[in-house]
Amino acid sequence: MTKRIGILTSGGDCPGLNAVIRGAVKSSQQLGYECVGFLRGYEGLVDPVTYKLLNSKNTSGILNQGGTILGSTNKGRFVARSGVDNREELDIELLAGVQATVEQLNLQGLVCIGGDGSLAIAQQFHEFGIPVVGVPKTIDNDLSATAYTFGFDSAVACATDALDRLHTTAAAHDRVMVLEVMGRHAGWIALHSGIAGGADVILLPEIAWSFDGVCQKIIEREQQGKHFTLVVVAEGAHLPDGAMVTRERRSENRQVALGGIGNVVAAEIQTRLGRETRCVVLGHLQRGGPPTTFDRVLATQFGAFAVGLLHRREFGRMVCFNPPAIESVWITDAVSKLRTVEPNSSAVQAARALGISFGDGRCSRSPFETMTTTDHAAETKNEEPLANSQAALV
Ligand code: F6P
Repeated sequence: MTKRIGILTSGGDCPGLNAVIRGAVKSSQQLGYECVGFLRGYEGLVDPVTYKLLNSKNTSGILNQGGTILGSTNKGRFVARSGVDNREELDIELLAGVQATVEQLNLQGLVCIGGDGSLAIAQQFHEFGIPVVGVPKTIDNDLSATAYTFGFDSAVACATDALDRLHTTAAAHDRVMVLEVMGRHAGWIALHSGIAGGADVILLPEIAWSFDGVCQKIIEREQQGKHFTLVVVAEGAHLPDGAMVTRERRSENRQVALGGIGNVVAAEIQTRLGRETRCVVLGHLQRGGPPTTFDRVLATQFGAFAVGLLHRREFGRMVCFNPPAIESVWITDAVSKLRTVEPNSSAVQAARALGISFGDGRCSRSPFETMTTTDHAAETKNEEPLANSQAALV
C-alpha cells in the first residue's frame, strides 16, 4: 500500500486553509505520497473515520478559495484548552482510536492545521506517539513562534476596506463611526487595519484606554475643523473598568463569544458628546473570502514545509515564519505563549507620531521626538503565557 499523508483543518476557519491543503497535496505527490483529507477537523479521525482522498484533480482551483474543502469545527470530542496549566487531557480511548486510524490508513503522519487550541491537541497526539506536525492558523495573529499566521493579512485587508468605506460616509454626514474587528487576546487586526485605513482612534486589549481619552481625540479633531472621526476597536479590548464585552456563554467547553464592545463605545460617545455615532461589527466577514496574495504565498509554503517535516520524520514540530525563512519549532513551545501587541512597538509609535489616539490621552506629541535607537530594543515580541487564557479551539 502506498504511504500516505493525512491532513485536517481544525478550529475557526480563515482565508488560506485551502492554499495549505493544495500546497501539502502537491508537494506530497512529488515525494510519492497519497493524501488523505479528514473531514470536520479532528472529528473525522475516529468513530466514524471520515475522509476523502485528495489529488491534483480535487484540489485544483482551490488556491484562491476561502473556507476549507475539508470542513472544520471548534467543538466536539477533541477539546484541549491551550496553556501549560490550562490543558484538558484527551480521552485515552480517543487517542488510541486516532492511532489505529493512522496505522490502518498507512499514514506517514498527520498535518494538523489550526490555532493554539487545535495545536494543543496535536501536541497531545505527539506525546501519545501519533506522528504529527502542526501548521499555525488564525486571523488574530496571536501565536508565538511565528511572525505571521496566514489569514491575518486577509482579515486586515477586509477591515481596511471597511474603514475606507466608513471614511467616506462618516465624512459625508459628520459622524463618528466605530468599527469593531476581531482579536480576542491581541489587537493586531485593529492596529494594522487602523493604520492602513486611517483610523483616528484605535482601541486594543494591550493598551488601557478611557472614554475621556477617546472623546478628547474627537474634540481635538473638531477643533482642527474635522467633523468626523473613525474609531476601530478590537473585540477583546477591555472596557475602562477592565470588563470584556461578551455575547453569550458557550456550552461544550467552548470559549465565551466576544462581541458588542463597538456598540458600547458608540453609545458612550453619543451620550457624552451628543455627536451622531454609528457602529459596524465586522465579525465573520474577516474570516471569509479569498486569501490575499501574501496569505496564499505563506500558506502554500507552510503546506509544502509541513510535508517535508513529516517526510523527514520530524514529528511534534510546527511550521513557522521567521522572516525571511520558513522554519519549525516544537509545537509545545508554540502553544504555551500568546503573541500580543507590544505597546512600545514601532507600529504603535508610528501611529502616535501621526496623531492616532489609543484612547489613553497620549496622542498630541510625536514619540519619535524623544525615541532613541535603544528604545527599539523594547520592540521584541511581546509574549504572554497562555495559562489563564480561556482559549479552546481557535
Ligand atoms: O480566533 C479567531 C476568532 O476570529 C476570534 O477573533 C473570535 O473571537 C473567534 O474566532 C470567533 O469564533 P467563532 O464565532 O467561530 O466561534
